[in-house]
Amino acid sequence: MKSGINPAIIMSLPLLPLASVLLLLCLIVCILLKALSSSTAAAANNDKKLPLPPGSMGWPYIGETFHLYTSRNPNIFFALKQKRYGSIFKTHILGCPCVMVASPEAARFVLVTHAHLFKPTYPASKERMLGPQAIFFQQGRYHALLRRLVLRAVMPDAIRDSVAAIEAVATRTLASWEGGRIVNTFQEMKTYAFNVALLSIFGKEEICYIEEMKRCYYALEKGYNSMPVNLPGSPFSKAMKARKRLADIVANIISSRRRRRSRTRTQGIGAAEHLEGSCDLLASFMETNEALTDAQIVDNIVGVIFAARDTTASVLTWIVKFLAENPTVLNAVTEEQEDIMKSRGEAKEGEKCLTWGDTRRMPMTSRVIQETMRVASILSFTFREAVEDVEFEGYLIPKGWKVMPLFRNIHHSPDNFPDPEKFDPSRFEAAPKAHTFMPFGNGTHSCPGNELAKLEMLVLLHHLTTKYTCSIFGSDAGTQFGPFVLPFNGLPMTVSRKCS
Ligand code: HEM
Repeated sequence: MKSGINPAIIMSLPLLPLASVLLLLCLIVCILLKALSSSTAAAANNDKKLPLPPGSMGWPYIGETFHLYTSRNPNIFFALKQKRYGSIFKTHILGCPCVMVASPEAARFVLVTHAHLFKPTYPASKERMLGPQAIFFQQGRYHALLRRLVLRAVMPDAIRDSVAAIEAVATRTLASWEGGRIVNTFQEMKTYAFNVALLSIFGKEEICYIEEMKRCYYALEKGYNSMPVNLPGSPFSKAMKARKRLADIVANIISSRRRRRSRTRTQGIGAAEHLEGSCDLLASFMETNEALTDAQIVDNIVGVIFAARDTTASVLTWIVKFLAENPTVLNAVTEEQEDIMKSRGEAKEGEKCLTWGDTRRMPMTSRVIQETMRVASILSFTFREAVEDVEFEGYLIPKGWKVMPLFRNIHHSPDNFPDPEKFDPSRFEAAPKAHTFMPFGNGTHSCPGNELAKLEMLVLLHHLTTKYTCSIFGSDAGTQFGPFVLPFNGLPMTVSRKCS
């Protein structure tokens, strides 16, 4: 069948009024111009003759989503693809064309050196739930401001005085596991990480809101991982309600701080002296010349809790598993921590708590944390979207395509880490090759909370190894995704106090 303008239309032209004819002509000219411009763009691309990366786009519309879901786990899907196509390959999942990159150089290109060509990208439902003004979704000046404010509250200088408060949370948490009952390691670690996150966000105040915030957060979390269907009673709609309540609680805390601030100002006390917990994250968001709105503060507080809790809890769960399975490593960590405990025991009364200095004298424990983050690679990858056509290593990454740096593949490549499946903390006695170890990401969106995460893990491990013994169950049961990779069933365990 011939394509083109229908002859019947041409025959009827003399019958149409002049205005309609002009309109029709304009329409035809527009269509021709559009066709010309897209063929010129295509020709420009063809001129460069850049091929797409190798790989398969799967079936129309569905792409390879089905393959991804039927593989035993996503990491196996990524590893098989890399084996077949190399360290840059294309695919089509969850309705999006994607380029996956699995070499340190490519990850650095996307996240660091050419980060301006790739913007962060999340499904709209997740953005709505966390809050559209949260740091993860931003670029440019607003993103830089948020990063400065978050870092001001969680960089080493800001958290060095929080060691005792974090230690109090750790000892309370561990005491609650005693008594021989089976606890779910991941759930318990989530509670610990949540309490530490609230401490760094609100300081020691606002305790009265904690239980309600927890309830809201659990509802939010259920909805976050559910189908984004906003029907009454659905997990998504419950989560949106919980999000609203959470926002109201944070807004109340903000106004009560503001009231306190203006009261102390009128009484003539300096700003720095009056604000209890003034180096906490909320204070950092409130004390800036480029004032943030309450909605911006709320979105970022909800976002930081989200970023801080399950990540830290997943790593701690893996550490418990690896220590239980590697008695020699556990002994070495315990010895290191007992030495620190002894030196604290010799300290004067009132100075027996752990200090920031103590946490800097834990090289063996720190290596265990590093090796756990490498082996477990709880964030297997991240997402970006190309903002324009990008050329990389002779391939075209088309504008609008998703780009996924595969952290796990890089951490599990024998080129970067010999015998990569083996849990061997001693490999970190020497620094890893440049840009091969990225548990906290890299570049403009890398994790600002990494020092806080390491600190809270060290403090918990100090008390866990010196005072308790753990027995884990179902160590061989495999892994699950929720949403991060985890030991199956959250690693059930029992904990008992060591005889002193
Ligand atoms: C072991 C625990 C943690 C791990 C493995 C982890 C990992 C990561 C990674 C890989 C990214 C970058 C994501 C990307 O590039 O798309 C990130 C971003 C982020 N993390 Fe963490 N994180 C942890 C704990 C924390 C904690 C305790 C906080 C609390 C302050 C935090 C706050 C953030 C924030 C706010 C971002 C977004 C930064 C931005 O977009 O500029 N994280 N994290």
